Amino acid sequence: MSKGNKVTRRQFLSYTLTGVGGFMAAGMLTPMVRFAIDPVLKPATKGEFVAVVEESKLTSEPQRFDFTVHQVDAWYESDVTMSAWVYKKDDGSIQAMSPVCKHLGCTVTWNDPKFANEFYCPCHDGRYEKDGTNIPGTPPLAPLDLYDHKLEGGTLYLGKARPRA
Ligand code: FES
Repeated sequence: MSKGNKVTRRQFLSYTLTGVGGFMAAGMLTPMVRFAIDPVLKPATKGEFVAVVEESKLTSEPQRFDFTVHQVDAWYESDVTMSAWVYKKDDGSIQAMSPVCKHLGCTVTWNDPKFANEFYCPCHDGRYEKDGTNIPGTPPLAPLDLYDHKLEGGTLYLGKARPRA
């Protein structure tokens, strides 16, 4: 064996200490990293629907319904009360809208004495048509978000509120 291939005592100790040190560091860091990103590793709970109201109670007039959603935000779990304006359209389909104004997030009301048959936001006089379309010339620049929804066994279930495409 040539002299160039020999590992010196210094190199041997250096490699050994580096290997052992790296192994120990990995052993300490792995649980910490895992704890830090744990929520990311959990499967997402998507498409959760909540029973809100019996379909038979829906009319062509928007009604406000409150419902509770269990939310998981990383390590924090909570029950949050949400609201929706819901009505049946002429074709029988259901329109379920978020009451959150698309201007700065106040809550809209229906059929305000000042603006009949419209959604009205009192914060900055924002106005929306019955279907949630923002009325030009008022502060909101987008229509009210729509809830994902489904009917099952005569009950309306609502999911996430999403901006319209
Ligand atoms: S927050 Fe609704 S109009 Fe400004």
